[in-house]
Amino acid sequence: MSTNGSTEQNPIRPFPPGFHWGTATASYQIEGATTADGRGPSIWDTFCRVPGAVWNGDTGDVACDHYHRMEEDLDLLAELGVATYRFSVAWPRVQPTGSGPANQAGLDFYRRLVDGLRDRNIEPTLTLYHWDLPQPLEDQGGWCVRETAERFVDYVDIVARAIGENVERWITLNEPWCSSWAGYGAGRQAPGVTDIGKAAAANHHLLLAHGMALPILRAAVPDAKVGITLNLGDFQPGSQHELDVAAARRADGNLNRLFLEPIFHGRYPEDMLEHYEPYQPGFSVIREGDVELISQPLDFLGVNYYFPSTVVDASRAAEARVAGYFVPSGEQFPDLRVRSLETPGRDKTAMDWEIEASGLTSLLVRIRDEYTTLPIYITENGAAFDDYVDPNGHVLDHNRVAYLQEHISAVHDAIDAGVDVQGYFVWSLLDNFEWAYGYSRRFGIVWVDFPTGARLKKASFEWYRETIRSNSVEYATSVGSV
Ligand code: FCB
Repeated sequence: MSTNGSTEQNPIRPFPPGFHWGTATASYQIEGATTADGRGPSIWDTFCRVPGAVWNGDTGDVACDHYHRMEEDLDLLAELGVATYRFSVAWPRVQPTGSGPANQAGLDFYRRLVDGLRDRNIEPTLTLYHWDLPQPLEDQGGWCVRETAERFVDYVDIVARAIGENVERWITLNEPWCSSWAGYGAGRQAPGVTDIGKAAAANHHLLLAHGMALPILRAAVPDAKVGITLNLGDFQPGSQHELDVAAARRADGNLNRLFLEPIFHGRYPEDMLEHYEPYQPGFSVIREGDVELISQPLDFLGVNYYFPSTVVDASRAAEARVAGYFVPSGEQFPDLRVRSLETPGRDKTAMDWEIEASGLTSLLVRIRDEYTTLPIYITENGAAFDDYVDPNGHVLDHNRVAYLQEHISAVHDAIDAGVDVQGYFVWSLLDNFEWAYGYSRRFGIVWVDFPTGARLKKASFEWYRETIRSNSVEYATSVGSV
């Protein structure tokens, strides 16, 4: 089955004029220089030192050394021809202990970055929080306590006043689901806590931090376009059995509705509040007026999408196997009794993530139908593959090209369906520190030779440059189709 199901003659699909093409990175994944110029430790510096937490004991100490190679990376962006670049500011560079006065050297780095983008005619898209919480704040309770949201507001004020006038687009948080449920629930990510009650409290305090920061940001930068980036999924039940349908609904509740509903409907989903009721402190940390803060108007929604999800009730794994699915061990949501399935025949990336671009289209249409008609930016999409430099010195990552083509085509399908998608960011500009996977997974359209820091453009870089230049994509047949 083709992703777009199109039989049209013209294989070229033009995007609307002014569509924002970009690439994305995050501070801890690329910067390195973790002790330079007064930067304090973050929860990721700490987590990387927990034995067994990160593949191979890798750390972000050096990463892509972007801190010292910023000019070279800016030149790559200019060569690529992007309209915008999404990066994140490291809170511990700006406030080394997470509170108190600003560290001027840290701010200067981001000022140089923003100025360097402007000089090259590239709009900055700035993420304020991409997971690197200052460790001293974690020591005081991290996202499980309300004070961290208050500290976030002070930090946002400092950044907005220092470099705000040159920043086009702001993203308060990147994937608060990962910060809360992967960080405090499953413990797969920093700070590595496994406590459902804490994860739920973190979920709320992250959204609260987002809500509390909005008026501060708007006061400091009146023209700011502000949004939040969520990692959302398109959950399909493995069968029409009522237990599997209910399982898909629970997974959807945790990943999608716990974030979309408070932000766009001003309330938390009842079924989820009920489900997490036994866990403390859980959602009992919600105070009067919080949801009003969280649901203040935004200018856009950022959506990160990587893979589709087919799930069944944990009690029905055997039936799913009989139906032909592969049922990997482990549960994405530790307390939801949901098992994820793999569909035989579907291609996968090096993350073991299934490839199915039509999930992106249906997700976007659903967001428009059920939550918001605000402009949407795909703030991350991309794939890790087992790239290598061939004997001629090239990285011919045709599988990544196919993935990107298919997903950009899926974005086009959504635009055709009337969804207001205004931009698309490839994750990622550079191979980088892929969190708990360390340097074992490469997502870049630029290869990084980690021992030396040398950059090498992959075939996907050239392909994306041409896509941007032509503002169009060819129709793609799903490489993950079955
Ligand atoms: C997302 C993260 C990003 C990157 C990609 C692969 O969840 O936001 O930093 O690691 O996954």
